[in-house]
Amino acid sequence: METTEQHLDTRRAFLLKGAAVGAGAIGAGRLLADPPAASASGGLTPGDAAILQFLAAAEILETDAWQQYNELGGIQDSEVPGGSGNPAYTDALSVLDSDMAQYIHDNTDDEFTHFTFINAYLKAHGVETVNLDKFRTLPSSTATGAQQIGRLTNLMRLTVDTSWWTRYRSDSQNPDFGDTLPQAIPDLATGQHPAIPRSNADLTPSKHLQAIANTAGFHFAFIEQGGTSLYPSLAQRVTHTEVLRILLSIGPTETMHFQTWQDKAGNAPPLTDPTNGLVFPDLNADGELLQTNLIMPEPTIFLDRKFPVCSIIRPTHTEGAAMGAVKALTANGLFIGQSPEFFAVLTGLARAADAARHGS
Ligand SMILES: [Fe+2]
Repeated sequence: METTEQHLDTRRAFLLKGAAVGAGAIGAGRLLADPPAASASGGLTPGDAAILQFLAAAEILETDAWQQYNELGGIQDSEVPGGSGNPAYTDALSVLDSDMAQYIHDNTDDEFTHFTFINAYLKAHGVETVNLDKFRTLPSSTATGAQQIGRLTNLMRLTVDTSWWTRYRSDSQNPDFGDTLPQAIPDLATGQHPAIPRSNADLTPSKHLQAIANTAGFHFAFIEQGGTSLYPSLAQRVTHTEVLRILLSIGPTETMHFQTWQDKAGNAPPLTDPTNGLVFPDLNADGELLQTNLIMPEPTIFLDRKFPVCSIIRPTHTEGAAMGAVKALTANGLFIGQSPEFFAVLTGLARAADAARHGS
């Protein structure tokens, strides 16, 4: 005999199947059929759909990068399958913290759930989900531990903007006011640097491999501070409270990641890579703007200089936030080797998200 719960499940499945016919039809269908609580906010506005689709794409790209890190430097298990681990790289990462492999694994696992959830939510509302599989064309590292599959992102030629380090330590500047903060690791912000061993040839000499692990340490925080700003920036333009809840619930997990990575990056040993001269300076030798243990967000100017300083996420300006994220990731070198069609798709999703307005 069918229980009430089974009956509801069947009805829900029927409604969701009906959703596939188009967003316009669902709104009415749901209204008539006493929708389940999860859909009580009704159909998505085009603006909410565009913001969620862009976030799904961003999370898919983030996941692809994290998966590569996990295959070589994370814990290998069925929760995040695929790689087999690279002991030398894992050891170099562990210099930053003995739990690095666990943190890399868990950050990767979290990113998988972000895009999977957002896509499932889009599908439940009859909106096209995001799939970037056709762009999985970039080469894998050939170092021991990595799967040999096509990738969306390139971790082998990164230019890492490390100004987030000083941005969160400044008490008088904020990029929302047009300020440009200095780099913590100037060498990483120019040239192209691997953040994973490109092949087993990168596993020696030890200072070269440590420089690669240090680069990863700063890149982890770069990626996650981006999410930390992106979610609150886009949240200002969503319409439905449930979509707002999604952004307000996922976004701060990016911040939890960022805070962890910021702390670990501070443990990257000062060194010079003997193969290419890449320098990681002693961050504790040059004042509070670089000091490693100042990881709590320093209060700074917010909204208007007439207000007292405030400890805040920065930047959070909403105009052009999605395109800003695409530009930052592109400048990072994450998409080196991607096709013009890839950039067209990503830019299209970003422009649509940036065109969204609260109530539209
Ligand atoms: Fe994420």
